[in-house]
Amino acid sequence: MERIVLAYSGGLDTSVAIPWLAEKYQAEVVAVTLDLGQGKELDDVRERAMAVGAVRCHVLDVRKEFAEKYVLPALQAGALYEGQYPLATALGRPLIAKRLVEVAEMESAGTIAHGCTGKGNDQVRIDVSVRALNSRIKVVGPAREWGMSRPAEIAYAQERNIPVPATVDSPYSTDSNLWGKSIECGVLEDPWTEPPEDVYTLTKSPTTTPGTPAYVVIEFDRGVPTAINGVAMPLVELVSSVETISGAHGVGRIDMVENRLVGIKSREIYEAPAAVVLHQAHRELESLVIPRDLERLKASLSPVYADLVYNGLWFTPTRQAIDALVADVQRYVTGSVRLKLFKGKSQVVGRESANALYKEALATYDEGDQFDHSAAEGFIKIWGLPVEMAAEKSLSSISND
Ligand code: ARG
Repeated sequence: MERIVLAYSGGLDTSVAIPWLAEKYQAEVVAVTLDLGQGKELDDVRERAMAVGAVRCHVLDVRKEFAEKYVLPALQAGALYEGQYPLATALGRPLIAKRLVEVAEMESAGTIAHGCTGKGNDQVRIDVSVRALNSRIKVVGPAREWGMSRPAEIAYAQERNIPVPATVDSPYSTDSNLWGKSIECGVLEDPWTEPPEDVYTLTKSPTTTPGTPAYVVIEFDRGVPTAINGVAMPLVELVSSVETISGAHGVGRIDMVENRLVGIKSREIYEAPAAVVLHQAHRELESLVIPRDLERLKASLSPVYADLVYNGLWFTPTRQAIDALVADVQRYVTGSVRLKLFKGKSQVVGRESANALYKEALATYDEGDQFDHSAAEGFIKIWGLPVEMAAEKSLSSISND
């Protein structure tokens, strides 16, 4: 009998996928559920998968691996898709694919299935990652094949006694993990409509946040955030602490129109309180400790990295090569950044590092200035030489502007 390993979230689509796959392919379905820090109770997920016909269900806590091997490199690379989206969903997919492949190999299953639709980026990320890891495994996406409308799917579920979760009434489609949450569908599809307050669950409305700011000091050790306000903690806990405090001050809401890989533009709402603040802090510390030309080089690679994560190209030599450069730069990134969180805004108000290239004696306008003012004249003479030459030419022979 054929065996299929299904990425199972416990929601309606993947619950319906279990009997659908079993019937269509005459297969045994093995469910796999990962804890990526989505904050949902996974206690009864195994029972639910079995109740609708899975032969086994593997529930795996991958939060630490996700934080250290996927989120951290993206943070260090400064990866924000189209300048804003911290890529929570996109970073989760290669790890999901990796675990699906491992379980498929262990279970001698020739097929992997997922609940992605045919219109999004997630199908691309999972399919391409599976191919990179084991190209002999076939990938199927029931929700992209079955052509059922939402009501038809609910009817299908009811016929087979599949419990329809109460949240199915929610007009929104969401995806969460420890790096943030995405919210789509319903009224959000009109890019002119302001998101109703009830779409937000990780961030308070700035109209209700505290009237006094919170100050947060984030310490980094070679590019890794290691402590908040003097309290050291492992990365998973640190991310969740930053999320709590930033969210409480309404920081981390993103409302954007983004370019999907499948060619359409979509309006996306994100809540990423930890990602927004940690990116801001990390970038600030880098700017203190990295030479100008290296800072510019690194910044030019950030959008390249963000695009490749977004477009499902995690398991590629390009990503590895950028990781190597970024990792090398992180050797200098030790120090602290102080941020002020207030009414939906986070602002850097201080930074320090033993590796700082900032030198007060060179920057100061007060006593003790060590900058050689007299050298400026000669420097400017040479610097301006090509400007003078070009201007002279265009004045005499080309134009008068
Ligand atoms: N637009 C985002 C991305 O492509 C969010 C996708 C949300 N995925 C989901 N299964 N709800 O990364």
